Amino acid sequence: MKLLVTGGAGYVGSVCAARLLEAGHEVVVLDDLSTGHADAVPAGARFVQGDIADVIGEVLAEGFDGVLHFAAKSLVGESMQDPGKYWTGNVLTAIRLLDAMKEHGTPKLVFSSTAATYGEPREVPIPETAPTHPTNTYGATKLAIDHAITSYAQAFGIAATSLRYFNVAGAYGHIGERHAVETHLIPLVLQVALGQREHIQIFGEDWPTEDGTCVRDYIHVTDLADAHLLAVETSVAGEHRIYNLGNGTGFSVKQVIDTCREVTGHPIPAVVAPRRAGDPAVLVASAERARTELGWKPERADIAGIVRDAWEFTKTRQGA
Ligand code: UFG
Repeated sequence: MKLLVTGGAGYVGSVCAARLLEAGHEVVVLDDLSTGHADAVPAGARFVQGDIADVIGEVLAEGFDGVLHFAAKSLVGESMQDPGKYWTGNVLTAIRLLDAMKEHGTPKLVFSSTAATYGEPREVPIPETAPTHPTNTYGATKLAIDHAITSYAQAFGIAATSLRYFNVAGAYGHIGERHAVETHLIPLVLQVALGQREHIQIFGEDWPTEDGTCVRDYIHVTDLADAHLLAVETSVAGEHRIYNLGNGTGFSVKQVIDTCREVTGHPIPAVVAPRRAGDPAVLVASAERARTELGWKPERADIAGIVRDAWEFTKTRQGA
């Protein structure tokens, strides 16, 4: 298939582009490099630098079998302080994309959605049928796009899939997480191990969990990317399917820090800080639907393996 990967210079998008190429697909990456890195675009992909709002019509006019849409703003904290950036950058951009797909008859879409669409869960592990009450603007914009995709899929026969990621981590060889503003737990802990920060803050030790710290479902970025391949291959015209992607096992902040200590051999000092606004206590996925309908089998669920891959990437970047 000839596939357009928007946001293919970012963390998840670039790993996905690499896996699509390995599977024999033709890949064009469209990215404005506002947060991505040109050197993350895999060799073999054609790179178009530009803003979706400006160039999507022109790009899709070439003729594509599908779009994998990763390009988005994705900082939860920032989304609360600057909501317009998220409603415009995420929702308006996605509508432009959908309109262009309609105009040029692009048949398939895979969208990068999020567990943040569910908000505080009433049921754990979280199934796709759970109510969606996002607790932050970021999650609200992704949910709005999911609704828009349902409408466009039904009206114009697009074969659409939304993949709701839980906590993505790990690295795929030389492609890993490198955000200008890092807010995610594992890369921050590894920065302590590298000596780039003195300690890691634990945001709250009084949560209703076994050790008092928040529990999350960490998924290896390569397993996540592989679900996109299955989604683009199996989607059905006129249907919008939604799948959660996680391993179904939760790890607490303290367990993650302990794993990082084991993997890096560094003591990694930790200090307890106040809770972070908007954090749910526990987010764990039920990915049964992805397993049964997509035939998805995550192969890198071991948390130590996920941290080890992130650590290898982090050390290499440091040496680079
Ligand atoms: N945490 C700390 N200290 C830190 C950073 C994070 O204790 O310095 C804690 C957070 O409070 C949270 C956990 O580590 O309990 C994981 O936090 P991350 O920031 O790594 O990830 P989140 O769970 O907040 O969010 C991620 C993505 C979202 C997505 C969500 C879905 O960033 O886009 O997973 O599960 F919606």
